[in-house]
Amino acid sequence: MISTEVMGYLPYVRRLQDEHRKISEVVEQIQAAHFPHGDPVSRRNAQISTDLLIEQLYSLRTMLRDHFEEETTGGCMEEAISRLPRLAADMGVLEADHCSLLEQLDGVIASVQHEVFTGRASETIERRFNDFAEMLYDHEADENRLLEQGFNVGSEDIY
Ligand SMILES: [Fe+2]
Ligand SMILES: [Fe+2]
Repeated sequence: MISTEVMGYLPYVRRLQDEHRKISEVVEQIQAAHFPHGDPVSRRNAQISTDLLIEQLYSLRTMLRDHFEEETTGGCMEEAISRLPRLAADMGVLEADHCSLLEQLDGVIASVQHEVFTGRASETIERRFNDFAEMLYDHEADENRLLEQGFNVGSEDIY
């Protein structure tokens, strides 16, 4: 039985989890459009595609920055910790991830811009983006788990 108080938080939990889904979709769209089956060759030869990639990476960065800010200031994660204080250490790790994730994404953007500037393709762009994506997915999955544990609810309660 979910208390009325927890019920009041569920829309916020749902909102954060919906954002996680949207962010994953954007990452997958970038992978599908620019790194199809490990074949970056077509992208290398298409300037328009590189310009689009830079635009999409910046847009993803803005989306992530706003999302991270909401997580750290919105109160929902904080409330989950106050209900189950043993999660505080996990939350500390997750907050530190925010900085690392933005730095990783900045590294990808810098690699793409370097490619445009020098006219030479960087072999590492796809790998760097995939490493970033993997860390992001782990991060968001840990947050979903933290929210569910903190409020003692399952995804069937949230949706
Ligand atoms: Fe986060
Ligand atoms: Fe998140």
